[in-house]
This record gives sequence, structure tokens and C-alpha cells, in this order.
Amino acid sequence: MSVSTTAHRITVPDIQARKGGVPVVCLTAYTTPMARLLDDHVDLLLVGDSLAMVVYGFDSTLAVTLDMMIAHGAAVVRGTKKACVIVDMPFGTYQESPQLAFRNAARVMAETGCGGVKVEGGAEMAETIHFLTGRGVPVFGHVGLMPQSVHTVGGYRARGRKNQDAAAILADARAVAEAGAFALVIESTMEPLARRITKAVPIPTIGIGASAACDGQILVTDDLLGLFPDFTPKFVKRYAELGRVVEKAAESYADEVRRRRFPGPDQVFGAKPAKRR
Ligand code: KIV
Repeated sequence: MSVSTTAHRITVPDIQARKGGVPVVCLTAYTTPMARLLDDHVDLLLVGDSLAMVVYGFDSTLAVTLDMMIAHGAAVVRGTKKACVIVDMPFGTYQESPQLAFRNAARVMAETGCGGVKVEGGAEMAETIHFLTGRGVPVFGHVGLMPQSVHTVGGYRARGRKNQDAAAILADARAVAEAGAFALVIESTMEPLARRITKAVPIPTIGIGASAACDGQILVTDDLLGLFPDFTPKFVKRYAELGRVVEKAAESYADEVRRRRFPGPDQVFGAKPAKRR
């Protein structure tokens, strides 16, 4: 089903108004060509700090810098006309104080032209989210599994199995919404918890491994395209196997170069036409 008849760029208030309506379609993008391919099909593109792992080969998202996020954020904005583009704030650029978060978020907004930023965290980030949203920086929240906290929680396990953990995540979601976030990523949580959060907060919940109970969905694009073979989480559905397509193309190219089949007459300037027999 396509619901995209929008001529203008989708705004943060447009996304916020989708609470309880047609599910919000979100994907990640890190480059201009990929953003161009996705733009017509999504409502929101997230320049996720997952690019640390997907593009740069780091083993967590912690290594990404503000300058990297700004370069990729600007590339994605250049590749889009329609999607609302949100850029992740990297680890260490917003947790220290609301003032530091504002200085760094303002750079992201000004230097990329994006529509807002995403920050991970619950109640402990509420003051910062309030500070940012009150000063012109729309904030996309992120609760549940938070990859920037991988070292404090000890891995990438799904969250909210135990009542106490589920209650804490629900309280976090409420705090983030009350602080002024326009939408909320819920990552890797049990289905009943995602359902409860979605009912409890007045902003759209965007699930990744959090079930269809959410108001929208997001996946890492390279996962759904089969381009990131290192690890496929349970919640990913692979809609294509482009990794295999790339390997096949490289294999055919290598074979043709070695057998002097490439370049052929069509790819050569001023080649003599082949003699007719
Ligand atoms: O960094 C990212 O790509 C994300 C999404 C997985 C939500 O935070």
C-alpha cells in the first residue's frame, strides 16, 4: 500500500500527527544514492549511528563522531525531497548536560538541514529533551534496547522480559514523551510492553523488534536488503539478498577482465569496428 501523495517534505508535526493512524514507515540511510532510492517509499529516514557498524566496520555504535554524523546527515538530506530526515546524536555528544546537547544538536541541524535529532535514553534524558525541544530542536526518543548503553547492560539482549524492567521502560517512555519528544523508537522489547507503551504515550511509537503494536516500524536498510551479513537479529526480515547480487556481479566482472572480454567494443572510445568475415 502506498500512502505517499505528499508534494512537500514531511515535517516533524506531520509525523507526530500520525499517532494511531496509518503506520509510519521509517528506514535508515547513510548516503545520497541510497536516500534517493528510498525517499519515495518512506515517511522518515534516520541517519542512524548504526553507520558505525554498517558502514565503518566498528563493533559497536560508540565510535561514531559528530563530524561523521554531520557528513552523512548532509548527504542524506541532499538525496531526499520528501522524507523527514532525522540524525542520531552520537554517544558522548549529549549525555553530559542539556547545554552541551544543545550546542551539538544545533550544529547537526544547521550543518545538515535535517528535521530533528534522535537521542537514546529515558527519564534521565527528560531534562535534556525538554531543553532541546524548547529551543527549536525536535527530538526523536529511543527506549528499550539502547545500543549506546551496550557496555552497561552487557549486550544486545531484548528488554522488558521481567516486570521490573518492563515497568522501568514504560516509565522511561512516559518521561520522554512528557519532555516533548515528537516520536519514540522502541527497540527490542517484548510485544506486550510495546503495546502498553503505545497506548500510554500520545506520540507515535516506532518499533524495531517491538512488534506490530507500534505506530510505525523502522529497520536498518542494509539488514532488509541483505547487505550486512555480520549479524541478522531475529526481528529483521530480509526483503532482498543484495549481498549475493554484489558478489555475483564482482565475480562476473573479474572473470571478464581476466579473459579480456571487458571492456568490449561498447565501452571503448575510438575502437576499430570488428572486421566482418
Ligand atoms: O542507529 C540506528 O540505526 C537506530 C535504529 C536501529 C533505530 O537507532
